[in-house]
Amino acid sequence: MIVVTGATGNLGSQIVDQLLARLPAAEIGVSVRDADKAAGLAVRGVRVRTGDFTDPATLEHAFAGADQVLVVSASMTGDAAVAANRAAVDAARAAGAGRVLYTSHQAASPDSLFDPQPVHAATEEHLRGAGVPFTSLRNGFYASTLGYYVGDALESGTLALPADGPVSWTAHADLAEAAVTALTTEGTLDGITPPLTATETLDLADVARELSDLTGRTITRVVLPDDEWTAAAVAKGMPQRAAEFTLGLFRASRRGEFDVVDPTLTDLLGRPTATVRSALEGMVAARG
Ligand SMILES: NC(=O)c1ccc[n+]([C@@H]2O[C@H](COP(=O)([O-])OP(=O)(O)OC[C@H]3O[C@@H](n4cnc5c(N)ncnc54)[C@H](OP(=O)(O)O)[C@@H]3O)[C@@H](O)[C@H]2O)c1
Repeated sequence: MIVVTGATGNLGSQIVDQLLARLPAAEIGVSVRDADKAAGLAVRGVRVRTGDFTDPATLEHAFAGADQVLVVSASMTGDAAVAANRAAVDAARAAGAGRVLYTSHQAASPDSLFDPQPVHAATEEHLRGAGVPFTSLRNGFYASTLGYYVGDALESGTLALPADGPVSWTAHADLAEAAVTALTTEGTLDGITPPLTATETLDLADVARELSDLTGRTITRVVLPDDEWTAAAVAKGMPQRAAEFTLGLFRASRRGEFDVVDPTLTDLLGRPTATVRSALEGMVAARG
């Protein structure tokens, strides 16, 4: 059995959908925090069990009988995230899984300026010493992240954010497909993978140009000083910690941490990866 965590989240749900197209439902289990949210999967024959990384005792039941566990990195930050991810890895090993897969990030590094990257690096360090075969999927930066900024840009006509750098924005669907291929094709993507990225990098000036082109309106990229952006974000209701977290993204991107493309994902899919333009098209269309 393959057990997938985070299956009520964006990536995990797409992974399970794609697994269901390749395997009988009886071979798929999910570990979720809220089983009610996974009721649709239970109806389709998927084994649904409750598991929370912060309560490792729950994982024993959730992971029981798993040959492989795909640990979707918890949507948490700092030491708590490291502890949660480690607990999930340990529980998968304790359940007797022959392979543990983990959703890392293309820029996992202890020295990153963006908080999630040291978390991923620490989890990978743990995986290396866990004594179980593993795959750490170094997923590209989600293109969906741009959705946080597109609405304001379309309303105001400006993409007003801190200085940034190029990012290889990558689609959830492509990353889900890569994870499913790794889970279902023996010998695929063992160990720490190359960066699983789309094939182009765009900075926010490029994104503003794409948005202008798509909408027929001029969307201007405006570079705000870090402190000015932070103050404005907090004034609009963003908690200070969240603003600082987000600022880390911009600092890391202008240091070039996400300015990486690699052919592995395209090769694995056997087709071109989704473009940023298609992601932006969806975001513009969703706003009517
Ligand atoms: N590559 C990137 O650019 C990028 C960007 C952002 C995040 N990420 C990472 O990728 C992960 C998956 O992305 P996503 O888009 O699917 O995010 P998402 O929709 O927020 O899903 C995160 C999943 O983690 C689960 N989770 C949170 N805390 C947990 C815990 N203590 N124990 C067990 N599960 C827990 C959530 O459960 P519920 O459904 O119950 O809430 C949810 O299913 C994120 O969690 C984050 O670590 C990567």
